[in-house]
Amino acid sequence: MSSLIRSFSLLFFVAPALCALSWNATPFNPSAMPLAVRSPYLSAWLTQGQGTALNAAWPTFWTGSILGWAGYIKVDGITYNFLGDPVVPGAQKAVQKSSENSSQPHKVYSPVEPNDLVNQSIPLSYLALEVASNDNNAHSVQVYTDISAEWISGDDTLTANWTTTVGDIITHQVQLVNQTTFGEVADHIQQGSAYYSTQGLSGTTYQSGEDIILRAQFINNSKLLNTQDSEFRAVSDRWPVFAFAVDLGNVLDTSQPVVFSVGHIRDPAIEYIVANGATQLRSSYFRTRFSSVGDAISAFLNDYGGALTRAQSFDANVAKDASKIAEDYASIVALAIRQGMASVEITTSKDSTGNFNASDALVFMKEISSDGNVNTVDVIFPAWPLFLYTNPAIGKGLLLPIFEYQATGQYPNEWCVHDLGAHYPQALGHNDGQDLNMPVEESGNMLIMTLSYTQQTNDTSLLTTYYDLLDQWTQFLIADSLTPADQPSTDDFAGSLANQTNLAIKGIIGIKAMSELAALAGDTAKSANYSTIAATYVREFQQLANSSDDKHLTLAYGNDSSWGLTYNLYADKLLNTAVFPESVFNMQTNWYNSVTNDYGLPLDTRHTYTLSGWEIWTAAFVTSSSLRDSLISLVRKYASDGQGSQPFGDWYDATTGAVINTFKARPVVGAHLALLALSPGDVLGPGTGSNSTSSASTSPVLHILPPAVYKPHQWRPDEYCRPIPGGLY
Ligand SMILES: *[C@@H]1O[C@H](CO)[C@@H](O)[C@H](O)[C@H]1NC(C)=O
Ligand SMILES: *[C@@H]1O[C@H](CO)[C@@H](O)[C@H](O)[C@H]1NC(C)=O
Ligand SMILES: *[C@@H]1O[C@H](CO)[C@@H](O)[C@H](O)[C@H]1NC(C)=O
Ligand SMILES: *[C@@H]1O[C@H](CO)[C@@H](O)[C@H](O)[C@H]1NC(C)=O
Ligand SMILES: *[C@@H]1O[C@H](CO)[C@@H](O)[C@H](O)[C@H]1NC(C)=O
Ligand SMILES: *[C@@H]1O[C@H](CO)[C@@H](O)[C@H](O)[C@H]1NC(C)=O
Ligand SMILES: *[C@@H]1O[C@H](CO)[C@@H](O)[C@H](O)[C@H]1NC(C)=O
Ligand SMILES: *[C@@H]1O[C@H](CO)[C@@H](O)[C@H](O)[C@H]1NC(C)=O
Ligand SMILES: *[C@@H]1O[C@H](CO)[C@@H](O)[C@H](O)[C@H]1NC(C)=O
Ligand SMILES: *[C@@H]1O[C@H](CO)[C@@H](O)[C@H](O)[C@H]1NC(C)=O
Ligand SMILES: *[C@@H]1O[C@H](CO)[C@@H](O)[C@H](O)[C@H]1NC(C)=O
Ligand SMILES: *[C@@H]1O[C@H](CO)[C@@H](O)[C@H](O)[C@H]1NC(C)=O
Repeated sequence: MSSLIRSFSLLFFVAPALCALSWNATPFNPSAMPLAVRSPYLSAWLTQGQGTALNAAWPTFWTGSILGWAGYIKVDGITYNFLGDPVVPGAQKAVQKSSENSSQPHKVYSPVEPNDLVNQSIPLSYLALEVASNDNNAHSVQVYTDISAEWISGDDTLTANWTTTVGDIITHQVQLVNQTTFGEVADHIQQGSAYYSTQGLSGTTYQSGEDIILRAQFINNSKLLNTQDSEFRAVSDRWPVFAFAVDLGNVLDTSQPVVFSVGHIRDPAIEYIVANGATQLRSSYFRTRFSSVGDAISAFLNDYGGALTRAQSFDANVAKDASKIAEDYASIVALAIRQGMASVEITTSKDSTGNFNASDALVFMKEISSDGNVNTVDVIFPAWPLFLYTNPAIGKGLLLPIFEYQATGQYPNEWCVHDLGAHYPQALGHNDGQDLNMPVEESGNMLIMTLSYTQQTNDTSLLTTYYDLLDQWTQFLIADSLTPADQPSTDDFAGSLANQTNLAIKGIIGIKAMSELAALAGDTAKSANYSTIAATYVREFQQLANSSDDKHLTLAYGNDSSWGLTYNLYADKLLNTAVFPESVFNMQTNWYNSVTNDYGLPLDTRHTYTLSGWEIWTAAFVTSSSLRDSLISLVRKYASDGQGSQPFGDWYDATTGAVINTFKARPVVGAHLALLALSPGDVLGPGTGSNSTSSASTSPVLHILPPAVYKPHQWRPDEYCRPIPGGLY
């Protein structure tokens, strides 16, 4: 489940113990559980498949490479491993039982609340441990946890160095000795540091050193030596790990959880093209509040209680809004929020006086897995409902760099650019104009997103500042969208095609969107002209796009046997523009009702595969609530059927449910919020729902996402355990 919370993204409660770990997979067991998932480079998952316990596998980066993260708990002298899969003698596994008591009450949260951009931009996650006796007797308890240096590189043969800083907070910091600014290896950034921290509560010890030695040290002696290994070496050379142990003494339960933070922080974070080919170095937005990483870590750890409360409230609000649509809907929304939010990073720059400028909030997105492009317009577009629903200010921050770059005049094409750079985190533009060519797709997307942002917030700054650019893209759509030239759409893996019906739909809605934007700008003549053009195009479209039996829209004009998901019709509902007559929506609804497969509708007649995001966009425009609910349920069926074992993959076979695993962990799952974006509820929480968007335009309000709350709800401890209220997942 995901949750948005103000300050950070992952709450990870491990119910410790020597308990038999049996979690109720409510609402279901996803193919991978997000553990510490907050940015493209802080992305630790537990891949599960049919169900893998937290201590039956190592956590992995989204790519599948291991991120060493180990945990033990010792109770009355017996050591149990609860996290990761270390092989060190003297410990036993906490046992996971498959039995489940379904009457056991438990809750799943999807908290989100409005927050400031600072909270969202801190790339740290929590690990919180609680223990409780289940026999009413106090027991002697010590806990241990470490991370490896695998968190800092995609190449384990590279040399790391590290330090441990001891104060109110104890922090292990580890990094590559040879860093490459903005460089990636296997999608890991080769720059910056991993940080593993805890409050220095009494009974806390620390140590850095070889994995098997530190773990044996804890198993043998229940504590660490407060020493640092000074032999800097490769990540995989006698595997250096960075460990903490906490002696809780004889306890009945923990009055306070023991809290750790894990994260990956780099500076500069983003290289960004500005005017005249110059580039700007941008930093994580939290630098506007915290002058050092240490201050940010300290505030983050101290904020744990508040963060948890806000997460619970956010989750409850999302669940309430989503459940109004369908019970199955809440679960796929919850699964999407953290994954989508962790694909973006909020950044700032220094102003002329050398201070970080809080008014300069630009947001960058990594496409993830389909490629590493920066701010791909047709990836922001499917994810758009996530930002619209949780906080449109983040959406604005994503659109701004695309506008700013093209307003410099360096991009030579008349249409909107595909992305801001081939390799995250370098947003270097495409001054040669040789970016992926999706002219109708991207131009239409920008017009639709700009109008929806403006409608939702009443903030007209995008439209007034970039009016000429928006108009230029509209002119292109007027020339090229009724009969679109041979070109790919966002689904470029399906191939390029001329006269794509769905692209024409997008282009025509884009023209109408500009008509509305022109009206808001007071340009009534232009507004009327574009409105007329859109209406004329719709009439012509209706002659071109139907199958000859008028049973469905074709995939491409004139090919009667072809059809596809015309998900762009969703934009007509989102914008309330009523460009297309209701008869078209009804025709598509009837057709889809007759062609649904075991796992939903195929993307189009060329293949049997589909994308979960477009299934939900389709669900959001069909005129039958039973078809809507059935499409939602089939996405949930795919998400929960255990065929995959990777961070949610949005691309799969609509007939078999088999995942196409080249797509994983992508931001596009934000599309799952399409129905929520149509009717904003009170997700923003008490006192914020009605006014958060207006404040977003001046001082940005952020809702964040959260925590992977993984909830082992039924511990069958031999002696010590209880379900953790509000635990994980
Ligand atoms: C589940 O737990 C409840 C409350 O502890 C108990 O009454 C019930 O018998 C249990 N059911 C099963 C199937 O174990
Ligand atoms: C680790 O390496 C970095 C980068 O080369 C260097 O700046 C830093 O001083 C080194 N730290 C230690 C503790 O040696
Ligand atoms: C760092 O890189 C330089 C240049 O490639 C190389 O000579 C040196 O051995 C590297 N140092 C380490 C510790 O990998
Ligand atoms: C832990 O105990 C085992 C068994 O006595 C011993 O072989 C090992 O050296 C000890 N390790 C540490 C780090 O104390
Ligand atoms: C997160 O936001 C809340 C509410 O604005 C604030 O109280 C808290 O200090 C923030 N957390 C951090 C780590 O800045
Ligand atoms: C801060 O950023 C905003 C937005 O980019 C800009 O308008 C303003 O001039 C900047 N302030 C300073 C002092 O540079
Ligand atoms: C935007 O303006 C309209 C018309 O004045 C108003 O009804 C609506 O509440 C405003 N929305 C926001 C988010 O301020
Ligand atoms: C696209 O459709 C138009 C209108 O039917 C037609 O004139 C044109 O030839 C088609 N283009 C292609 C490449 O098929
Ligand atoms: C309407 O817009 C089109 C496309 O920009 C333009 O060619 C045409 O002259 C405009 N018509 C009027 C009446 O302004
Ligand atoms: C295409 O189908 C729609 C929806 O049924 C209908 O309104 C429209 O008239 C049809 N177009 C033609 C040319 O028959
Ligand atoms: C019509 O569409 C079908 C299904 O997508 C495809 O197999 C066929 O090749 C298309 N025909 C033409 C002439 O493009
Ligand atoms: C938002 O509205 C609530 C309730 O009307 C009010 O208490 C709060 O102060 C408002 N916040 C802002 C930032 O205007």
